[in-house]
Amino acid sequence: MNKKVVYQVYLPSFKDENGDGLGDFKGVESKLEYIKSLGAEYVWISPFFKSPMKDNGYDVEDFYEVNPSYGTKQDLKSLVDKAEKVGLKMMIDFVFNHSSDKHVWFTKALEGDEKYKTYYHFLNKSELTEKSLQIKSVFETPIFNKVKDEYYFGAFSTYQPDLNWSNKDLRNELKEIVKYWIDFGFKGIRLDVFNVIDKDKTKLLEMGNVWDIAEGKNVNKYWKEVLEYATQNDVYIVAEANAPAKNSLAYTIPVEGSVNSIFTFDHMDWRIYKDDKITLNSLFEKIFIKMSEVNNNGGDLAIALDNHDNPRIINSLIDKTGASRVSAALLLNTLNIINTSSSYIYQGNEFGLMNPNFTSRNQLRDIASLNSSSDEKSTIVYSRDNARSPMPWDHTKNKGFSNANSIWLDNPYKENLEENLSKEILQATRKLINIKSQIQADAKINILQNNELIIYEITSKENSIITVINAQNKEATYNNNYKVIFETNATKNIEAFGVKIYSK
Ligand code: NOJ
Repeated sequence: MNKKVVYQVYLPSFKDENGDGLGDFKGVESKLEYIKSLGAEYVWISPFFKSPMKDNGYDVEDFYEVNPSYGTKQDLKSLVDKAEKVGLKMMIDFVFNHSSDKHVWFTKALEGDEKYKTYYHFLNKSELTEKSLQIKSVFETPIFNKVKDEYYFGAFSTYQPDLNWSNKDLRNELKEIVKYWIDFGFKGIRLDVFNVIDKDKTKLLEMGNVWDIAEGKNVNKYWKEVLEYATQNDVYIVAEANAPAKNSLAYTIPVEGSVNSIFTFDHMDWRIYKDDKITLNSLFEKIFIKMSEVNNNGGDLAIALDNHDNPRIINSLIDKTGASRVSAALLLNTLNIINTSSSYIYQGNEFGLMNPNFTSRNQLRDIASLNSSSDEKSTIVYSRDNARSPMPWDHTKNKGFSNANSIWLDNPYKENLEENLSKEILQATRKLINIKSQIQADAKINILQNNELIIYEITSKENSIITVINAQNKEATYNNNYKVIFETNATKNIEAFGVKIYSK
């Protein structure tokens, strides 16, 4: 399989067509030509299933029904069909590590139905220590939740009980769900928290913190079984995992794994408010060394510099280095796109969208922010809502996101919208994606230099592409005899934080 370019749509925040203040299927449909014009091949949409929306759809009440706030199933079908017409493939987001506590499996389990109790992880009080009962979930609720005289396990929150994957009946249900949506027309799959699905009782009882449940020995085996229909039908699969690179390779299909690509998030701690000493060089190193280890051996460590779970990285880059917004956007888009991995463009990356300017905790809607025990300032700075603030499309009401009187989450983007929507970054990003389309699936990536200049080479039988990034806040000299195929400035030198790409 070739390396992919995927455009990520965060459904609630992308485009509202029916005027209720929440993004919807018709909104995405209205932007398909735009997404296609960027050069993307896939569109990943966040979970659209029926849901109480405690975690914006990552808490699924019914895997076969759509959330009516996003439209009808016919609207979704129309979106999938239209995507195919314009040459795009839709990618579904499967949240199979847990369900909502409102899912009928769970409500039946609570009623004492033995079959459904085995779909989840229920433990007796006598099995749990005081220490276990203190452990917090990712969203800071208790990880073991009391019902009657038992406790159930919820790694993310009380509202998201974890499913018990050691149960074959459960896996068969998941297989059916996969088949249903592939037959519906989805051509790509994103797997939520892929590497935490397999946990046995010992793991739960011995866990010190929530991530200790990751990397169970059956992760690949279970997924292969559940995804069989997708694999047989040439569906592209990417897994979200907090896995170190050595495991990443083992998870991918070329080495008998279960998925085509894998995201890891080691670089996500590269945020200004986490460590002031980290430089652009260390960001590059964090991503590209692992990328070369995995990809040069046939895997695909997918790059997602941004997503809906983190404040936007462009702000960090600007704050840490003093780069201008345009330079920062182009530099990040170069790293994100010109490489040998599948690239994920998060909505707004294509025009260098920055974090909005939330000023009060009251503006936030994310479960992680609402439950956060941190002070107001850091809750705002770290909030996932920074990346979820509705897209600014133009100068009309609610910046073109919606014509509703109130929208589900504010979008107080501060920078001049004129500049924000500048064609400059957009055009350059299209060019970068076009260059990526010429990189062969089996190309190898080599880091040549990582100091004032960051230089790396991508080689295949057909060609060789050299990328040069000026990592410092002053002009740099660089010469070679190759043909320039992309540049952020057309002079001989490379401007501060500028980029030049050459082809041999
Ligand atoms: C990862 C998703 O990206 C995130 O948004 C969600 O809250 C958790 N998984 C739990 O499903």
